[in-house]
Amino acid sequence: MGFLYRKLIRSLLFNFNPETVHDAVIRAARAAQGLEALNSVVRLMARAKDLPVTVAGIKFRNPVGLAAGFDKNCEAARFLAGLGFGFLELGTVTLRPQPGNPKPRLFRLRDDKAIINRMGFNNAGAWEAAKSLERLLPLPVPVGISVGKNADCSMEDAPKNYLETLKVMYEFGDYFAVNISSPNTLQLRSLHGGDKLRRLLEPMLDFAAGQKRTKPFFVKIAPDLDDAGLEGAAALAVEKGFGLIATNTTVSRSSVPVYWSGYEGGLSGRPLRELSNAVLAKTAALVKGRVPVIGSGGVFDGPTALEKLKLGADLVQVYSGLVYEGPFIVKDILEYLHRRGWSPSAR
Ligand SMILES: Cc1cc2nc3c(=O)[nH]c(=O)nc-3n(C[C@H](O)[C@H](O)[C@H](O)COP(=O)(O)O)c2cc1C
Repeated sequence: MGFLYRKLIRSLLFNFNPETVHDAVIRAARAAQGLEALNSVVRLMARAKDLPVTVAGIKFRNPVGLAAGFDKNCEAARFLAGLGFGFLELGTVTLRPQPGNPKPRLFRLRDDKAIINRMGFNNAGAWEAAKSLERLLPLPVPVGISVGKNADCSMEDAPKNYLETLKVMYEFGDYFAVNISSPNTLQLRSLHGGDKLRRLLEPMLDFAAGQKRTKPFFVKIAPDLDDAGLEGAAALAVEKGFGLIATNTTVSRSSVPVYWSGYEGGLSGRPLRELSNAVLAKTAALVKGRVPVIGSGGVFDGPTALEKLKLGADLVQVYSGLVYEGPFIVKDILEYLHRRGWSPSAR
C-alpha cells in the first residue's frame, strides 16, 4: 500500500505547491469524514494492530500519534483518527485567528525526505477550533491540543495569552501540548528559560488543577536547545509533573545541502532524526521515567519509531513521514512493532 502511495499518489501530489496540496488534503479529509461509508472503508484499510499503552493516565490504542501542525484548526480529526493513529495532537491553536507568515512558507526537500516550514501558526483561532471539536467529539482516540502564542502578543503577555487559549480549549482535549519551540514566532523559543517557563506553566497548571478533571500537560521543546536549557526544562517538568515532547523542528541546516541554508524556518523529516533522537535520549536520561516523554522527529517507519521507544519515548509522533510514506504509515509501523515483540513493559 505504501508502495502504491509513493509511486502513484505522491508523484502526482508533489507536482503541486506544498501548501495547496496540504489545504486540499485537509478539505478532502473534512468532506470524507462526513460520509460514514467512506470512513468505514478507510478505517478498514488502515486497520492496525492494537498495542495499548497508558501514559499520563490516558489509555492510548497504540503509541503512534499524529504530530501537531497537520490539522491546525482541528477540522479533520475524525478522518485522521481513521488512519490508525493511537492519538492525535491538533493545533497549534492560538487565542485569536491569525494568517501566519507570508507565502511561500512550506517547502519540500524531496531528495532528503524533509520539509522546511515557516507557517507561523496560521490558524482560525481557539473559538473556531472549539466549535469544530464540539461537532467532531467524541473520537475513538485521545486528542491532544497544542496551544501557542499569537504573533502580535508581547512576550510579557504570553502567559495570559496561552492561558486564555487553554481555557477555551480545555474541555476538548485529553492532554495539552504547550508549544514554546516553533522557530517561526519571534522570540517564542526564549520561553524555554527556567523562570520564563515556570511563569508560563504555573497559571495553566493551576487552572487545570481547579477543574473537575485535571488533565495532563506536555511541553514541546526545540532540538536546538543547549544542555543547560534542557536541564532546566527537565527539572521543571519533574517538579511540576508535566511531560515533554522531544522535539519540534530545527533551525540547523547542517544535515541538508547548503542550498537550503537560505530557506528560513523549521526543518523536519529524515535529516532531523539524529538531532531529535540525541535530545530525546538526553531528556529521557534527565527525567528518568518520572514524567512521560513523547518522541517526534524523523519517524518514517517501524525501525525509526522503535529506536525512539528504545531511547525512552513513551509515545512517538509522525508528521513528515505521513507526507512521504503515505496514509498507511501507522499500520506499517505497528506491524513492525508487533513483529519485534514490542510492548510498553518491554522498555
Ligand atoms: C508544515 C509543518 C507544520 C508544523 N506545525 C506545527 C505546529 O503548529 N505546532 C507544533 O507543535 N509543531 C508543528 N510542526 C512540527 C511537527 O509537529 C513535528 O514535531 C516535526 O515536524 C518533527 O516531526 P517529523 O520529522 O515527523 O515531521 C510542524 C511541522 C510541519 C512540517
